[in-house]
Amino acid sequence: MNRKYRKTIIAGNWKMNMKPSDVKPFAEAVKAIVPRAKWCETVICAPYVDLPAALKYLREAHISVGAENLSEHPKGAYTGEVAADMLVDLGVKYVIIGHSERRQYFGETDITVNKKVHAALEAGLQPIVCVGESLEQRELGVTEELVTLQVKTALADVSPKQVRKIVIAYEPIWAIGTGKTATAEQANEVCRAIRTVIRGLYGARVARAITIQYGGSMNEKNAYELLSQPDIDGGLIGGASLVPEKFAAIIEAANQE
Ligand code: PGA
Repeated sequence: MNRKYRKTIIAGNWKMNMKPSDVKPFAEAVKAIVPRAKWCETVICAPYVDLPAALKYLREAHISVGAENLSEHPKGAYTGEVAADMLVDLGVKYVIIGHSERRQYFGETDITVNKKVHAALEAGLQPIVCVGESLEQRELGVTEELVTLQVKTALADVSPKQVRKIVIAYEPIWAIGTGKTATAEQANEVCRAIRTVIRGLYGARVARAITIQYGGSMNEKNAYELLSQPDIDGGLIGGASLVPEKFAAIIEAANQE
């Protein structure tokens, strides 16, 4: 973390878990433990149907709300899809784009990720753009090249002004939901490489200000060490964001002076 230059953001990704009726008890439980995070922004990205409840109850707990996906199209005949301005109309602030599960199970590519980034920015949503390598790619030694390509493609035609709204989440696929976390040094190395890519594209000032999260089995035990790394500015948290005590403990780890 480097609070002098950039925001620390702890974001939960509920994935396809939690019903609308689960939101209120979750929010109340987190609020009872962490009344208000002082040094970091906290976010929960929730399934579409949970968003109205999330906007009501999580905001009372000072937690911002994000969606987990959006359509690349602004409106029209796309049955089952949800457009960026529908999310904005509800009051949603963030949206996860290009999560590895979307890439793996729903055919999303770097190109669709770029289209969704533009759709989100045009509507005023803040994208949390996910990038990361598979185990095979890491073992082949191509992690940095791959992540560089993912970042550059995701940000194609994004202006220097717009890029200030973007959060990048480095999520090694082999660490997601597996209990295997990248070591703090491994995670920091890739986050630093991402910052170098941003510096090349947008200059030092933007690179210094962009929030780069780590995601992949971040939990209440390893959060402090990961967040102590200079280039890790927060977390995107799956499993541990479903349990109020665990999510609150991660917020506390980011909230230390
Ligand atoms: P995990 O998920 O924390 O359960 O590994 C992270 C993510 O997929 O964003």
